[in-house]
Amino acid sequence: MPATPVWNLNPDDPNAETIRQAASLLAGGELVAFPTETVYGLGANALDADAVAKIFIAKGRPSTNPVIVHIADVDSVQMVTATWPEVAAKLAEHFWPGPLTLVLPRNPRIPDIVTAGGETVGVRCPDNIIARALIRVAGVPIAAPSANRSMELSPTRAEHVWNALDGRIAAILDGGPCRGGIESTVLDLSEAKPRLLRPGLISLAMLEAVIGEISQSPTNEGRSRSPGQMERHYAPHTPLVLANGKAEVQRLQSELRERGLRVACINVSGIPAKYAESLYAILHELDREGYDFLVVEMPPDKPEWAAVRDRLTRAAAGTIYAKHAP
Ligand code: TXA
Ligand code: MG
Repeated sequence: MPATPVWNLNPDDPNAETIRQAASLLAGGELVAFPTETVYGLGANALDADAVAKIFIAKGRPSTNPVIVHIADVDSVQMVTATWPEVAAKLAEHFWPGPLTLVLPRNPRIPDIVTAGGETVGVRCPDNIIARALIRVAGVPIAAPSANRSMELSPTRAEHVWNALDGRIAAILDGGPCRGGIESTVLDLSEAKPRLLRPGLISLAMLEAVIGEISQSPTNEGRSRSPGQMERHYAPHTPLVLANGKAEVQRLQSELRERGLRVACINVSGIPAKYAESLYAILHELDREGYDFLVVEMPPDKPEWAAVRDRLTRAAAGTIYAKHAP
């Protein structure tokens, strides 16, 4: 495929003609990356199995990983799910548009490839003017995982998408940096008790304040159905190690430097929302600078840091840190 064009848009007032062009690519079964309030998504017509198959090819994504379906408003949920229970309606009223994905029994119109063959579908209404304009003009629900190669860091800027997917997708809509910075909270409502599948910017406490108790323990089945729960995910190319506290950051940094390695460190700073907003952008940037190791201070074990801790733990999973390792 030729080089992928990047179309700049005003995030508050996107050019209608550009949105129409992007929507017509989607209608023609092509892939378009677009900004959301969390991270950039890689969109395809969710009702077109062949179009969604292209997402898996472009990302190198295993077919066992289901894709979230995006809608422009709550009314469109009927195109995506088979049921709309009271808890879902309450959550949507509080948190949509916003970074919350609800897993519900799927509408039979949603092809198998979207749900990875399962009977449930993840659905969310993003809080981003470009995303919602695109979905509305396309006139169909839009399947969209994060617009990165599988297992890698999610993109929070158009240039991250371009670096990962240039030549593999039809167009990229550039709406500037994403405000949220990490992926949506995923909540499974398909069983008797709501279950948190992925923590995110909508915290457990915020959800429980609206619908009461939520289960947090992943089931084995859930783990394979929701591969965002797999241990290594969201990872930079550079090996990343976690440190508890600034003293340990210092110690690891000295140890690694004594071994002749180039090391960059990230310390905890600011409030969780600000930290999350820039985390992936910083990791993308450090990745490009070719360090041998990244040492990242683990934020405190407090509920407000849960989503950031989750992503950092997955980014570090599998890094081998041994005294004599390269
Ligand atoms: O913020 C986000 O959620 C971004 C933007 C683009 O919306 N999307 C995103 O998609 O992060 P993705 O595919 O990178 O992650 C979706 C997560 C995965 O962990 C997937 O396994 C889970 O949601 N998921 C999707 N559908 C599911 C389902 N039916 N049952 C269980 N988990 C599901
Ligand atoms: Mg992803």
